[in-house]
Amino acid sequence: MKTVSTTPFEDQKPGTSGLRKKVPVFQQPNYVENFIQSVFDSLEDFTGQTLVIGGDGRFYNREVIQKAIKMAAANGFGRLLVGQGGILSTPAASNVIRKNRAFGGLILSASHNPGGPNEDFGIKYNIGNGGPAPEKVTEAIYARTRVIDSYKICETPDVDLDRIGRVEVGGMDVEVIDPVADYAALMEELFDFRAIKAMIAGGFSLTFDAMHAVTGPYAQEILERRLGAPAGSVRNFVPLEDFGGHHPDPNLVHARELYELMMSAEAPDFGAASDGDGDRNLIIGRGIFVTPSDSLAMLAANAHLAPAYASGLKGIARSMPTSRAADRVAEKLGVELYETPTGWKFFGNLLDAGMVTICGEESAGTGSDHVREKDGLWAVLLWLNILAKRGESVQAIAEGHWKEFGRNYYARHDYEDVASDAANSLITELREKLDRLAGTSSKGLVITTADDFSYLDPVDGSTSANQGIRILFEGGSRIVYRLSGTGTSGATLRVYIERFEPDAAKHDVATGEALADLIAAADEIAGIRAKTGRDKPSVIT
Ligand code: G6P
Ligand code: ZN
Repeated sequence: MKTVSTTPFEDQKPGTSGLRKKVPVFQQPNYVENFIQSVFDSLEDFTGQTLVIGGDGRFYNREVIQKAIKMAAANGFGRLLVGQGGILSTPAASNVIRKNRAFGGLILSASHNPGGPNEDFGIKYNIGNGGPAPEKVTEAIYARTRVIDSYKICETPDVDLDRIGRVEVGGMDVEVIDPVADYAALMEELFDFRAIKAMIAGGFSLTFDAMHAVTGPYAQEILERRLGAPAGSVRNFVPLEDFGGHHPDPNLVHARELYELMMSAEAPDFGAASDGDGDRNLIIGRGIFVTPSDSLAMLAANAHLAPAYASGLKGIARSMPTSRAADRVAEKLGVELYETPTGWKFFGNLLDAGMVTICGEESAGTGSDHVREKDGLWAVLLWLNILAKRGESVQAIAEGHWKEFGRNYYARHDYEDVASDAANSLITELREKLDRLAGTSSKGLVITTADDFSYLDPVDGSTSANQGIRILFEGGSRIVYRLSGTGTSGATLRVYIERFEPDAAKHDVATGEALADLIAAADEIAGIRAKTGRDKPSVIT
């Protein structure tokens, strides 16, 4: 074991989901070591305890895992579990941490961002409940990165990550584990596999696009081997270091082929995709895309059809920018609805306290108390379980849902890679005029409330301020503005636009049309075009 002296990097502040940078940034000498040592230095005593490590298999994954193993040994962990090939999907890592009562875990991923020698990489620390470290931990890590002067590492040979089994590294036990087995077993406990299997055997067709990312092996094992979907139902199933040159982001832009298939005459009954690290999901029925916000509401309304949720939900949580469709489901079920800032880490306390069962975000994340991360395949399986039990199509379920609860037309407009100064000043100016907006109108829409979202965590009493600007209109429409916390170059302005339509006769309008006046108001209120120089968003989801 040796102690190596080092000097701090100024840019190691974790964002919405860990530290994300371009690969060449991580490749700077000591960059990875500084961050990992800062994580270890910020934790309470873990001597002899278990650490879990896994990643989404992107470029640089194996190198960082080797460093992390040697550093974990030098810092005194007693046991380390690592997925074979360095692979663990994010929800599977959460499960491994929980199941093995590990002290915590390092998840190496930049989620849905592209991978490759000049693309993105990321390191995130998860705590013993299996969920992302809360803000007080990430702040401590950041503070440590600013003063760090040395790190500890064992000078031992690399571990063979491809061979399942046990080895010793500097006195620490290292186990290379099957990344899929425990996760697949958990899914089998939660859902009615027999009903889904019977539906598939009866001719129900599905396609799952793994986007050359981490869920390929998981989806093949669960959907094809255990549930009997024909070979080929899982596409792009080989995880690649650069995701085949694509963005492993399951949205209508990057999963375009799947979308087009689902809108065509050859569409199977059900289409789905997941992202780089397996925590996001995209759900498309034949001829109908289900927005993540609607998916959360529909899953919550029907969850009792799956064995794990048969006794009902304790509560529902959604991130603030997620549409309010789930709120009306919570109301009907008579359970509490919690509105949290963007970032899965904010659900952790509510889940641990048993206050909520299901959580979701507009950014294509849905999950439950089975782990402490959002879970792409879980959402797919819950949908399949519901479809099997109801015997109806996705379209029929969605239309029935809107009829009962009303429809929240919803879109997110992203302005990517905007100059940071311009994006910051847009938000600052908006913030300055918030007090004066209520009672005024824009494009004929009357503003009832305008504020900057601040969250008081009901479990630990902590406050997170400045979490996004909300403009609420008469009739339940809403515009939210915030800057992304996950980008790696420039700033990304996100504008979330939502209209509530209770009238079933008006549930068949194209989203762009239903939101047209709000889109114009969003520009008028914040001066998006003038301040960013962009005349349209880079991505609409
Ligand atoms: C990650 C986080 C999510 C978050 C999303 C968007 O996927 O895990 O919780 O919703 O990023 O974050 P952003 O700050 O880019 O809007
Ligand atoms: Zn992800």
